[in-house]
Amino acid sequence: MDITWHLNDPPLNPHSWYSWSTEELLSIVRTSDNDQLTSVLLRAFAQGLSRRDGWQIDRLPPEFIPLMIAAAAMYKRGVAISNRPGQGRQGHYQVLLANHMAHRSDYLPPTKDCFFVLDQQVADLYPSWGAHADLLQLAAETEKNLDTVRHMASKIAKGHSKQQIVIVGGGMLTDSAAFAAHLLKRPFILVPTTLLAMVDACVGGKTGVNFPPYGKNQLGAFAFPETVVIFPQFLKTLPLRELRSGGAECLKHAFLTHQLSLIETTASFIQEERREDWAELLPQLLAVKAQIIEKDTGEQGVRAYLNLGHTLAHGLEALSQQRKGNDEGGIISHGEAVGIGLAFALQLSSSLGALSPATAHAYQTALERSGCLITHEQLAHYLGCSLADKDLWPSLLRILTHDKKNTSANGQLSWVILQHPGAEPARVVSLTASYVEEQWREILRRLNKDF
Ligand SMILES: NC(=O)c1ccc[n+]([C@@H]2O[C@H](COP(=O)([O-])OP(=O)(O)OC[C@H]3O[C@@H](n4cnc5c(N)ncnc54)[C@H](O)[C@@H]3O)[C@@H](O)[C@H]2O)c1
Repeated sequence: MDITWHLNDPPLNPHSWYSWSTEELLSIVRTSDNDQLTSVLLRAFAQGLSRRDGWQIDRLPPEFIPLMIAAAAMYKRGVAISNRPGQGRQGHYQVLLANHMAHRSDYLPPTKDCFFVLDQQVADLYPSWGAHADLLQLAAETEKNLDTVRHMASKIAKGHSKQQIVIVGGGMLTDSAAFAAHLLKRPFILVPTTLLAMVDACVGGKTGVNFPPYGKNQLGAFAFPETVVIFPQFLKTLPLRELRSGGAECLKHAFLTHQLSLIETTASFIQEERREDWAELLPQLLAVKAQIIEKDTGEQGVRAYLNLGHTLAHGLEALSQQRKGNDEGGIISHGEAVGIGLAFALQLSSSLGALSPATAHAYQTALERSGCLITHEQLAHYLGCSLADKDLWPSLLRILTHDKKNTSANGQLSWVILQHPGAEPARVVSLTASYVEEQWREILRRLNKDF
């Protein structure tokens, strides 16, 4: 599969420039315990700057300009800077699906020429890959941060004779190591090893890290691999929790096709805990994302459809991390959060009349049957409180309002809902916080009854 991408300037609201002053910068740089880049980023979040607010930096002393350019380039995956018009970029890359008999060397350049960044677990499970690792990284969502990226970048820079970087792991590693490669302006190849990374994270060019307390993937860049090579054999060792986690993204893609047969086949693959034969299904599911990002790489239009289920999912993940940050096993996984997000999106789509109750019911049944929906008790465990806790919704709402994909104003929240039939498979709607709260209470009631 060949994927073409086009990127234009970051979206910009011309009436909304944030003017950085020298006094402001001096005060944050002098008073903060953090490094200068982190201090500027924290300040931008604290000011509530959106992706559409350009940064006015002309009046700053020249020594601050490189710092501000670096911060703006990664803030919410890039915001506009005054007097520095961004340039359109485009390119393409191939996604190769390796034959089940394939050997690494059939698809990847010789190991002596590449810097291999490997997921620690993958290296342990696949010693022939581990033997070539130049850098091992623990895949834990709490490790997906700016410090990890800096550490990776410095290690990669030290291995400078090996120009090309090969990143082998799940979405956590591909997101953060590809961001490190981008900061170093190095070419990279992605080898996804989880179902989630194969069907989703490895295509589309989104790289980045979380930025607590401001949430998931708040810093990053659009950066594109030279090639993606999928070896479906890696799925043989994937734990069930991770299989279901990726399964939720597979179902999201299947929902966006509105093809009930694909939705049901995908649900069956996950329900049957299949770790083989995914090569049959992956091309169809990957094609959904590929077609959308070819139309809108920079997320200024239809790419928003891929956020189906993700607004709530990101809120739940961030909340779980805030509350259970020291307990890795106690944090909800991305896919588990997406499973609940999808159930929520189906409920919204049906209650807003965009999906008929019968269609919503059929999709919901597939979601439940797949095993991708966690229980009421599991959700309570991951959030560290009873789901009846009166602080739960206000805490979630605070995070949802900060979500960088929330483009609605006046206290409203934007959500992607499915629509069928219709010219487009989905659409973005703005909903009041009180309506969303009502729907949140309803989904908790339904989860409690295990649907
Ligand atoms: N860039 C994007 O477009 C995009 C899209 C979706 C999700 N994501 C991101 O992806 C991340 C989640 O990725 P993930 O679900 O792949 O999780 P992950 O990378 O954290 O991996 C999950 C676990 O599986 C282990 N693992 C990896 N490959 C394995 C294998 N073959 N066998 C056994 N164990 C294996 C890892 O060590 C880890 O413990 C999140 O941070 C999410 O934000 C990014």
